[in-house]
Parts: sequence; C-alpha cells; structure tokens
Amino acid sequence: MSMIGIKKVTKVFNPGRPNETTALKEVSLRIEEGELVVLKGPSGSGKSTLLGLIAALQKPSYGEVVVAGEPVSRFSEDFAALYRRHTIGFIFQKFNLIPTLSVEENILTPLLPEGMEENKLHERAARVMAEFSIAHKAKERVKNLSGGEQQRTAIARALVNDPPILLADEPTANLDAALSKNFVEYLRRIKAEGKTIVVATHDPIFFGLDFVDREIEIRNGTIRNEQ
Ligand SMILES: Nc1ncnc2c1ncn2[C@@H]1O[C@H](COP(=O)(O)OP(=O)(O)OP(=O)(O)O)[C@@H](O)[C@H]1O
Ligand SMILES: [Mg+2]
Repeated sequence: MSMIGIKKVTKVFNPGRPNETTALKEVSLRIEEGELVVLKGPSGSGKSTLLGLIAALQKPSYGEVVVAGEPVSRFSEDFAALYRRHTIGFIFQKFNLIPTLSVEENILTPLLPEGMEENKLHERAARVMAEFSIAHKAKERVKNLSGGEQQRTAIARALVNDPPILLADEPTANLDAALSKNFVEYLRRIKAEGKTIVVATHDPIFFGLDFVDREIEIRNGTIRNEQ
C-alpha cells in the first residue's frame, strides 16, 4: 500500500464560470512511505493545488486521494482537520501565519488541541525554534518579522507535531543560501527517520540531491515523467 495515492485527480476551480481553471488533469501518482519526492514545474502548473489535495485542504473535482489507506478526499471538514493535525505537516507557500500572535504562539497552534502540559509545549516549541534559527524571535509578533523569519516560523510550525508526512510548498523561497542548506540537511535527517516528504519547488538546491528519490515535473496540470 502506498502512503499517498492520487488516483486520476482533476481539479477545476470556478467550474462553469468565465474564470474556470483546470489546475490538474487526471493526475495519478503513488508515493511510498519514506519517499522524498521533489515536485517541479512552471508557475501555475498545479504544484500547490496537488499539495492542497493531499492535505485535504481542497477536494478534487474528479478522482480520489488516498493517504495511509484512508480516502481523505471524501473526509468531512472536521475529519480532514483531525487528519491534518495528526498526519500532515504543511509548509505553506504564503506561510498562513497569524500576524498578531508571537512566533512561539504560532508554532504551538497545531499542538493546542492535544491538551499537552504547558512545560512540554514550550519544550517542543523550543526544540523546533532552535532547529530553524528562530528562537531569538520567540516572543516577537509575526507581523514584525522579515520574510525569511516568517518562513522559518512556518517551517517550525509544520514540524512541531512530528508528522509522518511533510508537504513543503516552496520552503526555501525566502531563505538565504545558508538557511536553505540547513533546511535541506534537515530533510535528509527526517527522511532517514522514515518520513514521507513532498517538496514543491523552483529552487535548484533541491535538484539532483542524492537522497531525493524522484523529481517529478508538472506542466499545465499534467505529470510528464510519471513513474
Ligand atoms: N483557489 C483558487 N481559485 C481559482 N484558481 C486557482 C485557485 N488556486 C489555484 N488556482 C489556479 O490553478 C492553477 C494552478 O495553481 P497552483 O497554485 O497550483 O500553481 P503552482 O504550480 O503552485 O504555481 P507557483 O509555482 O506559482 O506557486 C493556476 O492557474 C491558478 O491560478
Ligand atoms: Mg505554488
């Protein structure tokens, strides 16, 4: 059984309207547990849409998404939220942070419903903040951060609950060379621990890496070198 199964998925935004857009066309893809897949392709080709479907943030117009044997594309909103909390770490292209909350508060949002002890929460936050070089800004409101600092906060939030699947959407777009390299090395480590990882990116730092299993190219909503 694959960890992620995308079965003939088509995604049409605004169907029947003048601005109708087919973002994905009959895409099929299987990703095994522990695989690291790099998703590349031009702007507008459907990379973020595909990640959103895997995370059950969007529903396909046709086709099905199955994760760890569960038909996540048919989950109710509540069930999808629960699934994301336990299974998915999502680094959003646009960060999706809460600007008026501090770095640490943002990072802790995925853990709050778990009813964890205060000490434990701070420990968990401290660990990921140190990992992604954002601990010095722990108490700062996100709206006062630079782009790269916001990106590191978004990365830390995605990983704080130690999810089995990491979906990273342009995770290094705002990072400098040294911070990008840190992130790549972090991926190498968590891949070795058995995590399943999909990175959507234009950043050549991810191309040709020895620990990446596959580079998949999307163009116009279609996977070209389907494997
Ligand atoms: N919520 C939405 N409503 C309408 N159209 C959308 C929506 N989300 C994406 N699209 C359209 O679907 C297509 C694919 O978008 P998507 O964001 O998946 O591309 P991408 O490959 O991630 O691009 P980029 O590299 O610029 O991030 C684009 O034409 C986009 O305009
Ligand atoms: Mg995108």
